[in-house]
Amino acid sequence: MPDNPLRDSADKRLPRIAGPSGMVIFGVTGDLARKKLLPAIYDLANRGLLPPGFALVGYGRREWSKADFQEYVRAAVTAGARTDFRPHVWERLAEGMEFVTGTFDRDADFDALADTLAGISAAAGNWAYYLSVPPDFFADVCHQLERSGLAEGPEGTWRRVIIEKPFGHDLESARHLNHIVNSVFPESSVFRIDHYLGKETVQNIMALRFANQLFDPLWNAHYIDHVQITMAEDIGLGGRAGYYDGIGAARDVIQNHLLQLLALVAMEEPIAFTPRELQAEKVKVLRATSPVYPLAKTTARGQYTAGWQGSEKVRGLREEDGFDENSETETFAACTLQIHSRRWAGVPFYLRTGKRLGRRVTEIALVFKPAPHLPFEDGMISALGPNAVVIRVQPDEGVLMRFGSKVPGSAMEVRDVNMDFSYSESFTEESPEAYERLILDALLDESSLFPTNEEVELSWTILDPILEYWAAHGRPDDYEAGTWGPESAERMLARNGRTWRRP
Ligand code: BG6
Repeated sequence: MPDNPLRDSADKRLPRIAGPSGMVIFGVTGDLARKKLLPAIYDLANRGLLPPGFALVGYGRREWSKADFQEYVRAAVTAGARTDFRPHVWERLAEGMEFVTGTFDRDADFDALADTLAGISAAAGNWAYYLSVPPDFFADVCHQLERSGLAEGPEGTWRRVIIEKPFGHDLESARHLNHIVNSVFPESSVFRIDHYLGKETVQNIMALRFANQLFDPLWNAHYIDHVQITMAEDIGLGGRAGYYDGIGAARDVIQNHLLQLLALVAMEEPIAFTPRELQAEKVKVLRATSPVYPLAKTTARGQYTAGWQGSEKVRGLREEDGFDENSETETFAACTLQIHSRRWAGVPFYLRTGKRLGRRVTEIALVFKPAPHLPFEDGMISALGPNAVVIRVQPDEGVLMRFGSKVPGSAMEVRDVNMDFSYSESFTEESPEAYERLILDALLDESSLFPTNEEVELSWTILDPILEYWAAHGRPDDYEAGTWGPESAERMLARNGRTWRRP
């Protein structure tokens, strides 16, 4: 293989272990930290991927001692870790834990944090600050980190900030947030989490496309009729009103997860798998993406009403605890996007997501145009649908190809069949959890799987016209819990003679 000067020489197959460092988690008592971050940190420790003496510092308002914090982390780990609980691993991790009581704006609290960190020599001055807090607090935390001298370390050490979505609620607020964060931390030290990029199947989009010869010749407007990106969830929003009411499905997941999936599926081949080259391709394709108009026909939104989820009777959004009884928040969102490039001209990308849908599934389906000529009588091919390549992100992770095959027998009859690759059957290795991968990457300064501020702002540029249109056009349509969304979503595709897949 010819040498590529952009390829770095590190052997990416070897386990990568973080160097001496520590992490401070702001918002450590929140749901995300308890359910995802703390278990992921334990799993990394258990897999031997954290440095000896790794320091884990919790910061929050509770009046907790170190022992209280250890107990809290232990409960989170036993409830959420994927690997076995091993006492010696736990004890080593627990030794490196500290808790600092404080608010996000008091100088004295951050001075106390600075003192605590200064006393932890095992971290060697290398700190990652995880902002698992609502964006309203980003400014306070960043400014306090700067004021207390924590944003910058002595020569030879590093300071990084890891931030969680939502990165704003529109382009303007995203710019404002990026400005605040970048005024304290240079962009190279900012790691924005989009946990979909940490999923094994999402990274496999790049392997599928760029390690094979089979797919690329077909991956364009000559052969592909349209692309459907679906992220369906069966859960409702009970307990999440504080975050979700007023935010809605499009801001919650289309702006980030689904547009990142679109970027990976549609981008050109990066000249190397370095962060810079990957981000350059994603930026290029996002810049070429826009909604298809008129939005009245090319978008749909809905809100779930009471219904049945399997055998369970569930409430509608407006009856869920904490939601306004007149809430206009959408729990289902669908839109049609186009990509202005030679590869994708004329190929609609349909994105949809929703809560309380028929089942939990995330998939990307590339649906092919019909063969230009079919030398069969109509009756022979009545059960033949369009060919499709489906990347199943979750669950049942894998890739499926759908095509027509002759039904056995003396007659010529063609029917759709599936050829199915499944991770669980092909590999014995278990996929790491997305947060494990991303936390480790941040500690290793490996930024490929983190969207840049430019990607975030471009995503808002794509979504803003749709959000504005919806805001000016009344409330979302109703759909019954347990169904596949509002009628308007079906009409959105039916207008062009297409239908959503029923995964
Ligand atoms: C989060 C959204 O980013 O992703 C949630 O805020 C959603 O609303 C979640 O439920 C889904 O993640 P996963 O990994 O379960 O598909």
